[in-house]
Amino acid sequence: MIRLLVVFGPLVLWSFLASGEMLDFDDRNTSDLCYLCACSLDKTYVDCSRRGLTDIPEGLGSEVKKLNISYNEISIFPPSINRFYNLNALDIRGNRLTELPANALQNLTTLEVLNLSKNYFETWLNLNPNEVFEPATHLKTLDLSHNKFKTMGNLANQELLISSSLEILILDHCQIDSIHGRSPLSGLINIRILSLNHNPLQRIHSLISPTLNSLFVNNCELSNINRNELTYLPSLVYLQMSHNYRLELSSSTYNLYSESLKFLDISYCNVLQPNLQGFPNLRKAVLNHNMVRFLGSNEFANNTKLEYLDLSYNNIGSLRSDTFRGLSKLKYLDLSWNEIAVMPEDSLLQMPSLTNLKLARNYLTRVGHLKSMSITVLDISSCEISAIGKDSLEGLQSLVDLDLSRNLLSYIPESISSNTLRYLNLNYNRISTVNNFTFFMLPRLTGLAVIGNRFTTIWKRSFFDSNVYLERLDLGDNMWRCDCADDGMFDFYDFITLEPNKKEESYNLICNSPANVIGQTWLEACYFIWNPSEKNPNIDSLIWFIIVMIITLSLCILLVNTIRRSMKRRLRNIQAERERQVEEARDRLRQLRIRAEQEALCNTPDPRDLIAPPSYDEALSMPKLNTSCHSLNETGTGKTRRKRGRRKTKSSGDLLEETERNGNVRTYDDMELAEPSGVDRQRRPRRNRRYGSHEIAELDTSPGARRRQIISEYVDDNVDSIVVEVEAELERPSRRTERSISTDDNLRHESDF
Ligand SMILES: *[C@@H]1O[C@H](CO)[C@@H](O)[C@H](O)[C@H]1NC(C)=O
Ligand SMILES: *[C@@H]1O[C@H](CO)[C@@H](O)[C@H](O)[C@H]1NC(C)=O
Ligand SMILES: *[C@@H]1O[C@H](CO)[C@@H](O)[C@H](O)[C@H]1NC(C)=O
Ligand SMILES: *[C@@H]1O[C@H](CO)[C@@H](O)[C@H](O)[C@H]1NC(C)=O
Ligand SMILES: *[C@@H]1O[C@H](CO)[C@@H](O)[C@H](O)[C@H]1NC(C)=O
Ligand SMILES: *[C@@H]1O[C@H](CO)[C@@H](O)[C@H](O)[C@H]1NC(C)=O
Repeated sequence: MIRLLVVFGPLVLWSFLASGEMLDFDDRNTSDLCYLCACSLDKTYVDCSRRGLTDIPEGLGSEVKKLNISYNEISIFPPSINRFYNLNALDIRGNRLTELPANALQNLTTLEVLNLSKNYFETWLNLNPNEVFEPATHLKTLDLSHNKFKTMGNLANQELLISSSLEILILDHCQIDSIHGRSPLSGLINIRILSLNHNPLQRIHSLISPTLNSLFVNNCELSNINRNELTYLPSLVYLQMSHNYRLELSSSTYNLYSESLKFLDISYCNVLQPNLQGFPNLRKAVLNHNMVRFLGSNEFANNTKLEYLDLSYNNIGSLRSDTFRGLSKLKYLDLSWNEIAVMPEDSLLQMPSLTNLKLARNYLTRVGHLKSMSITVLDISSCEISAIGKDSLEGLQSLVDLDLSRNLLSYIPESISSNTLRYLNLNYNRISTVNNFTFFMLPRLTGLAVIGNRFTTIWKRSFFDSNVYLERLDLGDNMWRCDCADDGMFDFYDFITLEPNKKEESYNLICNSPANVIGQTWLEACYFIWNPSEKNPNIDSLIWFIIVMIITLSLCILLVNTIRRSMKRRLRNIQAERERQVEEARDRLRQLRIRAEQEALCNTPDPRDLIAPPSYDEALSMPKLNTSCHSLNETGTGKTRRKRGRRKTKSSGDLLEETERNGNVRTYDDMELAEPSGVDRQRRPRRNRRYGSHEIAELDTSPGARRRQIISEYVDDNVDSIVVEVEAELERPSRRTERSISTDDNLRHESDF
């Protein structure tokens, strides 16, 4: 319980919130059940599904009619369930049950539906099948699907499910591969429906039940049914065996017999021959997606009650004229998706009740002289029909709906006649002309469709002079030539689009020629010719034009404004960025200047350093320095440079080095010190000597030097504007630097050092 609370705390909270709508606040803690689960207002339905429960929470009892504890973690059938003694439906699917105690349903006398699917049952014995259902005297439906029983038998009667009330037993997906023993159904004296779908079953023998009405063995592995296998199911009416890929009703099972069977589904199997003779009471047979190649004489002679026969998606290539003899009640026959090339003329006469015949997608090349007094709907679409005889419909005396779409017809003979035909579908053929006489003999024609044909000349109203019931014309997707000047066109347009006898939507009528109106509707193309008084654009279209122009204009303005605004924003951003950079540069300059000044203060000459520098001659005799003092400066970071500078003031060795460097290399500092008029070189080192080493060090670290360094940094970055700014900034403290950065050459010269 603690684990339950910890793990499912949030769930509990959720269910608390969820059930808040369904419950009064006061009731909430009186019953844990409705606190954890969702109860209906009158508490007859309690939904505890998917809450991670291992047991049923406390609370409630007799009032509950429907209890859903599916998809929890229950591994032991909860004994506390017997307090719900008025329970009707118990859904405990998706738990972890492996067994049912013999007294599991002890108090559940009113239980009708028990769903135990998706549990972990493996053996029938663990169900206590002999006793457990005994108390549940009203149990009608038991669902044990998705368990792993593997077999079904009645091992010395111990595995026998015993329930006198059970009617529906569902054992789908139970891995059952055999049914054995003396009928495992013998304990279920009222069983009506047994479902064994999706089991690896190969045979269904040993099923004995006087009451079984429906047997579902779809998606099994049945391969053969023996003659007797259905004889012990005398009440069997529905048999579904689809998707048994090896199953056939071969001649060895010729006499498979069931007097009671009315509905047989054996689609998606391996049937080579229908062999339905053994089912004299069959009403509906579904045999599509099989391997039937031909239908012989009297194939269905004994199926006098058959009303519905689906043989589509087979390989039927030939039929006999007496194939369908005896099918006196057949109403629906589907032979589509076969390989029928010829339909024997009289074959349909054997079926006096046939009203609906589907022959779509066969290899018929012409509409023969089919004869049937009863057929009303005939589908011969998607065949290869290229010709239709003038009198080919005369034998079909009740035909109402004829589908000839998707064939190769290029011509409809004049005066094709039928007194009953109302709907004629000629879509997607190759017909290019019709005339006064084409539909002349179809007095009841109500709907005609010729979508996707090759008509160019616009039809005439006179074509339908005799078709007074015409309501619907589908003329789309043709290549109409729009001769607007021809009165006939306007007349016909009027005829088909004028309310209240409108027959076609005007947007389906598209011109394909002449070139200037391609793609326009008939009305668009011919508007001003048909309405000469409205030569000039009328006031309506003028207003429309103005409105459209205004909208377009304002849209343009809006667009331009947005673009301008965004560009401004971008410009402003760039500006701000630049200003920020300049400000930064200025800040850094200022800081550097301040620091340098401070350092300069700190580096006041130390008396000890005031040793007389070497004389000019001595200096000349000293070894030459290879690198310039600038490059020395630049190799170190700011910190080390500063340190070194400070150290220089203290050590005489350094001093020597420094003076020598200054003596031999004409540094920028020297240039700075030089007068514009040009002072000779030899005086300068002397002057340095006079100032002493600390002066020199100071020059390196002086604000001017730092500034120049920074300038060179920026120049390298090629930020001209900043350089200009910096120049301006530098003008103030020192005029000497101005000269130094006046040209790029000078700068590069400096930084190259
Ligand atoms: C709700 O529970 C509290 C204690 O948790 C108890 O004192 C109170 O009486 C309960 N309310 C009802 C209506 O039972
Ligand atoms: C029980 O709950 C599950 C999961 O919420 C649901 O799929 C199922 O239909 C419910 N059962 C019934 C009998 O309502
Ligand atoms: C069993 O059902 C009876 C009523 O049929 C009831 O009085 C009894 O309390 C139930 N037993 C349990 C354990 O709830
Ligand atoms: C029992 O539960 C399964 C899901 O596991 C469901 O498909 C089936 O319809 C349920 N049976 C009944 C009788 O409600
Ligand atoms: C035809 O049906 C009758 C019962 O109506 C039956 O006696 C007879 O055997 C069946 N014929 C065949 C060939 O199965
Ligand atoms: C078609 O019939 C109309 C009148 O119904 C007639 O004027 C026209 O000439 C006929 N056209 C042909 C080709 O017979």
